[in-house]
Amino acid sequence: MRVSAAQLQQYRRDGFLVLADFVPAAACDHLRARAEQLVHNFDPRGIASIFSTREQNRLANDYFLGSAGKIHFFFEEDAFLPDGSLKQSKEKSINKIGHALHDLDPVFNEFSRTVELKQLASGLGLVAPLLLQSMYIFKQPRIGGEVGCHQDSTFLYTEQQDIVGLWFALEDATLENGCLWAIPAGHKRGLKQRWRRGPEGMYFETYDLEPWPEDQLVPLEVSKGSLILLHGLLPHKSLANRSSRSRHAYTLHLIDADGNYAQDNWLQRPAELPFRGFN
Ligand code: FE2
Repeated sequence: MRVSAAQLQQYRRDGFLVLADFVPAAACDHLRARAEQLVHNFDPRGIASIFSTREQNRLANDYFLGSAGKIHFFFEEDAFLPDGSLKQSKEKSINKIGHALHDLDPVFNEFSRTVELKQLASGLGLVAPLLLQSMYIFKQPRIGGEVGCHQDSTFLYTEQQDIVGLWFALEDATLENGCLWAIPAGHKRGLKQRWRRGPEGMYFETYDLEPWPEDQLVPLEVSKGSLILLHGLLPHKSLANRSSRSRHAYTLHLIDADGNYAQDNWLQRPAELPFRGFN
């Protein structure tokens, strides 16, 4: 699967590109079944204790930062009762899984390292692509929370700003179940914020205080199997899922090996698990 010159032009103009039917339905189902199996095998008790102790913020933060080289499970806000137990089943409480699924789980590895994706990355001009992070996003029926307008480069900064987000729709993503929204050509507005690692922990460094022109957001409703390419600087968001249908998605982020990935980004892999390409 190669992107055409016209598609590349469109991606550079809009900051996003929808590739319908990129992934066969069976591959979507296979990934979904694997994610459900991982959740099934996951014991939430240790994690629930993180959220119920007085040291909540520090421990939750450590669990998040530690996920760079692990498979960690994150809950929807308000998933817990005050005593640390879950309000409903863990299967209905998980917000996402991240951030090294693509390197640690064989099924995710296979989904993330196909010939088609390798060709796509090369078509986008990535000379030596590296797979940075992966997330499986559940967007649960009725409780799947909103994700505010942001740029992915805020969290995964590279000097060359050549980061590409791949957003795979594992189910139809519609207005009702919380599809993506994006500001066309918003990537040309520059980077608004960076989330940096400092001596006191993570902090936001803001370059531009102007709010996003959210009236310019357009919905990206896509069918199962579609792939949406997102430029790292593209402002995008998703609304809460108030419907009775889930909206599972899988995301991968790519950079070029010589893109000068920032050493003070949150996502730093342990020495024994360096970033890898498609091989
Ligand atoms: Fe994002």
